[in-house]
Amino acid sequence: MLLVVDKKPDDKLNFGWEWHSDTTHLEVRSLGSILVAKIVPPSGGYTLFANQYMAYEWLSDGMKQMLEGLRAVHSNGRILRTLAEGATPPHGTEAASAGWSEMWATHPVVRTHPETGRKALLMHTERFEDMTIEESQPLLRFLYERSTRPELACRFQWRVGSIAFWDNRSCQHLALNDYPGHRRLMHRVQVKGTPPVLN
Ligand SMILES: [Fe+2]
Repeated sequence: MLLVVDKKPDDKLNFGWEWHSDTTHLEVRSLGSILVAKIVPPSGGYTLFANQYMAYEWLSDGMKQMLEGLRAVHSNGRILRTLAEGATPPHGTEAASAGWSEMWATHPVVRTHPETGRKALLMHTERFEDMTIEESQPLLRFLYERSTRPELACRFQWRVGSIAFWDNRSCQHLALNDYPGHRRLMHRVQVKGTPPVLN
């Protein structure tokens, strides 16, 4: 299914402005996403990517042990709030016109990549399973900071016709919102993944 992500010149907010992996609110996570640039601003509008293998591997052995077996609750609540605050709804999904309802899924915080066998962090969540948001925040804040450090990140500069294909199981990404007054139009396709490999 093709999703059209269109940030109009007057839109204040954009989709994907926080670090995230795509569609983690679904039980079966996305393998990857393919994004094609149709209209790009004269400058800015880059997408940043952060390596979540390294985010995990750079943790201490003690922290790795503590995270093993932890699960986190993922929802599409941030997307809904972005819509509620006036962003142009994406086209290509029934949700855009019918109104999204909030959806949740729980996933392991550390997940083994089914093809490489390497472990990666999966952040972009508000709380751990069976814990409150308040209880979850201190550790989440630490993990967010660690998993999005500049040393783990690169940025992709779009030109019209550029195509990016990334692996949602081993990286997070973020769309910069630094081109006020200009339009940025992208087409996105999700590649469906497989249920998690047990660690
Ligand atoms: Fe995204």
